[in-house]
Amino acid sequence: MVLFLRSGSLGRGVYLLQMGFHYKDGYLYCEELKVKDIQEEVSYSPFYLYSLAQLEENYDAYHKALTEINAIIGYAVKANNNLSLLKRLSSLDSGAVLVSGNELQLSLAAGFDLKRTILNGNGKTLEELSLAVEHGVLINIDSEFDLQHIQQTTKQLDQPANVLIRINPDVDPEVHPYVSTGMKNSKFGIRNEHLNWFLDEIRKDDLLNLVGVHCHLGSTIKKVRIFRDATEIMLDFMRSIQAEGFSANYLNIGGGLGIDYERDGEEIPTPTDLINSIRELLTEDITLIIEPGRSIIGNTAVFVNRVTGVKTNGNKHFIVTDGSMAELIRPSLYDAYQHIEFIEPVDGKIETFDVVGPVCESADFLGKERVLPTPPEGTGLVVCDAGAYCHAMSSNYNLKMRPPEYLVDGDKLTCIRRVETLGDYLRLFDV
Ligand code: LLP
Repeated sequence: MVLFLRSGSLGRGVYLLQMGFHYKDGYLYCEELKVKDIQEEVSYSPFYLYSLAQLEENYDAYHKALTEINAIIGYAVKANNNLSLLKRLSSLDSGAVLVSGNELQLSLAAGFDLKRTILNGNGKTLEELSLAVEHGVLINIDSEFDLQHIQQTTKQLDQPANVLIRINPDVDPEVHPYVSTGMKNSKFGIRNEHLNWFLDEIRKDDLLNLVGVHCHLGSTIKKVRIFRDATEIMLDFMRSIQAEGFSANYLNIGGGLGIDYERDGEEIPTPTDLINSIRELLTEDITLIIEPGRSIIGNTAVFVNRVTGVKTNGNKHFIVTDGSMAELIRPSLYDAYQHIEFIEPVDGKIETFDVVGPVCESADFLGKERVLPTPPEGTGLVVCDAGAYCHAMSSNYNLKMRPPEYLVDGDKLTCIRRVETLGDYLRLFDV
């Protein structure tokens, strides 16, 4: 089979991909379980498969990086909102970063301490703000109207709110434009030139307590220098806000690091590299907030498919799988690369394939131009690093059902979300 770029060898025929997944004698394992055996046991295909050990290791990497710093790790729930995984994260003492009222309610159900959660968003509704104020969630002010809505809510509930101001540091994150969010023309955050207007409004309002500043440059960032540049700029803003008489000392630097989707040997910085790059800037009065999603959950999962068939048209070869853009849209939407491997030995002729799903449009692909051996029908195939923004962005397009999710803990397999059925869908029309 074509070689995955493996980070090390554990001995004859045993390769470590990362903590949760490894190859042994040509078969992919998730922790102690052979993925092929899991595929046989799970009668439905495709499905998502997670490693608990990998999740714990990823969270721990941030936790360790932040020892000796006052900090909140706010897991970005949008990356993956499986309730069972959220419960695991809350039990590790993670905070949560929310972008909707539903995410807030789910976080409550998952047991997060809502005092250590943050509500983000450029279009928060009054209902969402009410929930946030009632539960003491930190709220980011995103615009003039957003501030007015927060004020309206606190007044109506006669309850105070702790708020941060979302500022665009205008540092280029060097990522796909769809996931770049901190430039000055972004739809998020306030116009920086208007900062004093916001300060005056907050000063006049007894129910608002300005606790800090927030920024989010973008997602998939792989250079710590970018975080450092933004932190310096944000600290300048924070100091000038403090000079105006506010005791704001929460510095929220937004989302976390990118991950190693490409597996081509590039060195990806660790949470310790990231935090060390800004450590000297953080004085004791500061509470740092970081909002990682992808780097906590991304590499904890693979998306497991079966090969439906192989075909050739013109000069193109295709592997057709049962999974598609409906269950995993990142390649189609962002032209994102996610590594693809077989879960078992395959020794067919090596060709360059597009790996495509059954959905009726040409944008439906999981990977392009992958050099792989020709697989027989029914072969198991995985899309790697599928924990973040994959199941969470799945849809019912072509009336495909959202796939089930399974979690491995050592040698134990648990279903953590059942498959959606046509019955579930039809019930929406019982009106
Ligand atoms: N905080 C804020 C305010 C965010 O907007 C995001 C992600 C995060 C934190 C988490 O960032 P992370 O640590 O995951 O990089 N669907 C896209 C990603 C969109 C990210 C949006 N914001 C994808 O599949 O790549």
